[in-house]
Amino acid sequence: MSAPLLEVSNLSKAFPLRGVLRARARVAAVTDVSFTLAHGETLALVGESGSGKSTVGRCLVRLLEPDLGSVLYRREPGAAAVELLALRGRELGRRRRELALVFQDPGQSLNPRLPVGEAVAEPLRVHGLVRAREARARAAQLFARVGLEADALERFPHEFSGGQRQRIAIARALALEPRCIVLDEAVSALDVSIRAQILNLLLELQRERGLAYLFITHDLGLASRCAARVAVMSKGAIVESGAVAEVLARPQHAATQKLVASVLSGDPRRKLDAAR
Ligand SMILES: Nc1ncnc2c1ncn2[C@@H]1O[C@H](COP(=O)(O)OP(=O)(O)O)[C@@H](O)[C@H]1O
Ligand SMILES: [Mg+2]
Repeated sequence: MSAPLLEVSNLSKAFPLRGVLRARARVAAVTDVSFTLAHGETLALVGESGSGKSTVGRCLVRLLEPDLGSVLYRREPGAAAVELLALRGRELGRRRRELALVFQDPGQSLNPRLPVGEAVAEPLRVHGLVRAREARARAAQLFARVGLEADALERFPHEFSGGQRQRIAIARALALEPRCIVLDEAVSALDVSIRAQILNLLLELQRERGLAYLFITHDLGLASRCAARVAVMSKGAIVESGAVAEVLARPQHAATQKLVASVLSGDPRRKLDAAR
């Protein structure tokens, strides 16, 4: 097997608890998490709410500083590994571009007062990659690629539906030509038909650009449709991982069994899929 894109080892992150009496108490959000992500692969990170999934995602893109651990990154399978957590300054900025993040609610990540075309062009300018005019042309190309009309560039986030806003967020993530996108509940809030469209778009982009996805979701059924491999989190730790069909058919850990049960109690078609 070739060397992976990401090799995450023993990642841990605790947050301080608020309140005077507990001034020094901390809550362990993520404890000793390890996994790998291959180039062009989708790995699902699944777990109930509060299990630590978003904290892992945020540590990978360095929105959060983990307390402990290592994240080795290889841009290409043959490249030398870079320790992402040791990067500072300019080198951090350069590598940060290569890992993007898409949230559940792009309403929160898009500036309400900025035309969305600007929101997509902005990272290109901030990173000094292109001049203003080129950035706009590039934003227009990206909008076309994610299925948005050119006139959408001038409009504001509130003028779009949830599905369209997620297309904008994807265009923004793609602008810096990442190797990997952390999709944190990126389709969880969407209606079933819109969700299918966005998932198809993500799949096309993955094939076209060789992107790797860390697909974070609380829905194991959804994970099984997007990823071949899954890691299940519970209380900040990975408690089970493997081929998604195997995990669905023979869940070992109580937390996984609970997730499988909620898949079975959902859509009857999924019940059949899971039973196969
Ligand atoms: N910024 C924060 N400050 C304090 N506690 C946090 C913060 N972010 C997350 N947590 C806590 O860490 C744990 C894991 O949260 P999170 O990673 O968001 O889980 P998930 O994405 O699986 O729902 C939860 O107990 C949550 O309350
Ligand atoms: Mg979360």
